[in-house]
Amino acid sequence: MRLLINNLAVFQEGDSSNIPIMFIHGFPFDHQMWNKQVSAFKSSCFCISYDIRGLGESPAGDGQYTIESFVNDLEKIIDELKLEHPILCGLSMGGYISLRAVERMEEKFRALILCDTKSEADNNETKLKRAAGIKRINNEGIQKYIADFVPNCFAKESIEKLGQEYISILDRSMNSDPIGVKGCLLAMAGRTDTTEYLSKIKIPVLVLCGEKDTLTTPDTMKSMAGKIKGSEFTIVPGSGHMSAVENPHFLNEKIKSFLKKIIS
Ligand code: MLT
Repeated sequence: MRLLINNLAVFQEGDSSNIPIMFIHGFPFDHQMWNKQVSAFKSSCFCISYDIRGLGESPAGDGQYTIESFVNDLEKIIDELKLEHPILCGLSMGGYISLRAVERMEEKFRALILCDTKSEADNNETKLKRAAGIKRINNEGIQKYIADFVPNCFAKESIEKLGQEYISILDRSMNSDPIGVKGCLLAMAGRTDTTEYLSKIKIPVLVLCGEKDTLTTPDTMKSMAGKIKGSEFTIVPGSGHMSAVENPHFLNEKIKSFLKKIIS
């Protein structure tokens, strides 16, 4: 079911009396990247996914975003849906949002699943890359920018294997509002570093990283997991940065056993 909350497209599946799990997508994608997780968990969990402001079906508005404003959006959805201690599951930019949300209001959450993401803020080189991306979108249009960015998010073999599914993901990203995409680039460039909070996290954490992820590498993620007491770290075989799409079966099994442990 599609809802509009705070002008954001929010999607809920499953019985609202089950444990809520919120899926937060990466950049420059939309909630549909979680389709295979929602299908797998909707019979046991109350699954909520949404389009981050400016992406997918959520209008861009003025494009003036920060990770802080994205966390405000997340909080608004939790409050509107009256979700009791949801489990947060974020991939990449969705992970940046999740980590800051946990740093800001950990008591609201039951557990955290971090896929292909990191706690460090952008270094100068990455900030300059974001600036170059914005310039490119302004000068050459969104499609050229997306056509270069998106293939780097997938392992080469996955692009071939996914075929039409990959093309649909790419098409949806290409149709994004340039104001929204530029707003997300600025939000990511301006985000805070959440590394210091990692050792203070008390809720259970599962960390998953694609074996072939070149954007947030297994080494980076393993070191992040090492800073989170009691966290579980797993490599997703054959996957690039988009583990939820590239190896959904493996990811779902890992999430399933994590949920079993934290719920029982
Ligand atoms: C994402 O997948 O959300 C982005 O690659 C994150 C980033 O560019 O830092």
